[in-house]
Amino acid sequence: MNSVTLINNTNGEKYEFDILDSTKGSGVIDVRNLYAATGLFTYDPGFTSTASCTSEITFIDGEKGELRYRGYDIEELATKKEYLEVCFLLLNKRLPNKAELLDFSEEISKRSFVHEGIKDLFNAFPDYAHPMSMMSASVSAMSAFYFEHLDMSECKDFQVMARRIIAKMPTLAAFSYRRTLGIPFVYPDIERSFTENFLYMLRAYPGQSLKIPTIEVTALDTIFTLHADHEQNASTSIVRGVASTGAHPYVALSAGINALWGRAHGGANESVMLQLEMIGSVDNVENFIARAKDPNDEFRLMGFGHRVYKNFDPRARILKNLLHELKDKININSELLEVAMKIEEIALSDEYFVKRKLYPNIDFYSGLILTAMKIPRSMFTIIFVIGRTVGWITQWMEFQESEDKKIARPRQRYMGETDKQV
Ligand code: ACO
Repeated sequence: MNSVTLINNTNGEKYEFDILDSTKGSGVIDVRNLYAATGLFTYDPGFTSTASCTSEITFIDGEKGELRYRGYDIEELATKKEYLEVCFLLLNKRLPNKAELLDFSEEISKRSFVHEGIKDLFNAFPDYAHPMSMMSASVSAMSAFYFEHLDMSECKDFQVMARRIIAKMPTLAAFSYRRTLGIPFVYPDIERSFTENFLYMLRAYPGQSLKIPTIEVTALDTIFTLHADHEQNASTSIVRGVASTGAHPYVALSAGINALWGRAHGGANESVMLQLEMIGSVDNVENFIARAKDPNDEFRLMGFGHRVYKNFDPRARILKNLLHELKDKININSELLEVAMKIEEIALSDEYFVKRKLYPNIDFYSGLILTAMKIPRSMFTIIFVIGRTVGWITQWMEFQESEDKKIARPRQRYMGETDKQV
């Protein structure tokens, strides 16, 4: 096994640490006994150089711009498979055959109804509540209704829980939105596909047999697939962290939803659209680019940059193509699109962005597509939640089944007062 040697220049001591291989991508230095051996901790705020777990779910090569779920390239999955096939793949480590997909889809449809008590919960929220706050509260509240999942140890129970949550997420999402408008809830239509049913529950009058254009169903299904998992991102790390305390999956997911809300993470697509509107016209783009580059200005170009991708985010590339495909078919606000395309053009050639490897990320394009589909802006991050749910649950299950199940408990570098007396 390869190893690295650490030399402590203070006392000349030498320590060996094993390098553990990965099946693809970077290996890791195994520092689990670092503190015991050296009395020192590693210091890595934001975990830019830390692998927090071993995983078989998702592979990212940020330098190349590569993303794979269970070994399959994201572009192939996004263009050739439906979102529910991708869910099955993540949960079961293999793609379903036709009969399995049919069974899985039917089960998800039938599980999409929520307990009437959960529905009543939405009425307690004020009209101005953001759908994300209702989403996080209702997912947490599911623990009160499905208490048999509070203390699971069998893998077969994990699968039931996973299917239950994936199925109910669009219903909770649609209820959250309809509550903000004060309009009656629409129950799921089990004759429709997962994605079509979500758009139906958002848009239909109760009892109306509303036709949802296939082009919109396909576009949203692709968006769900692109968001399904993304290895140890901020919200997933939070889900695993909560899981590590032994807490049940509903609160772990609710914590993930809250983490996703931040505008440095899943809240970015909402912020992208706000920013495009603020910029308003192609003539103002240069001015805002200058602000983004100014170290004394806190303004950041939303939808640009990524902690891991130092190349074009492959998900963004797929959505960019989708955006151009949709442009002539659904009504995309051409002025906002022009502003976005001008920003993209300048940023991709400007030295500031090129040097820092700041490329457009998935949120830059998803906001434009969702806006064109008339999805309300307050629902953008919720769309991300629906797509990412399967990833969070799969990561939760992988944690439960792993051998090194330790509570997430980092240490710190203490720089406070020392030895004071009252
Ligand atoms: N606009 C202008 N400058 C930027 C941007 C941006 N969007 N993003 C990074 N930079 C600059 C930083 O100022 C810094 O410059 P410096 O080296 O001169 O100080 C450099 O690029 C590195 O930036 P960091 O913040 O250190 O990079 P980090 O990896 O920590 O942050 C993040 C990544 C949070 C995504 C950041 O790029 C950002 O805030 N982007 C805008 C928000 C956004 O689009 N978020 C969505 C992320 S994707 C997702 O969650 C699905």
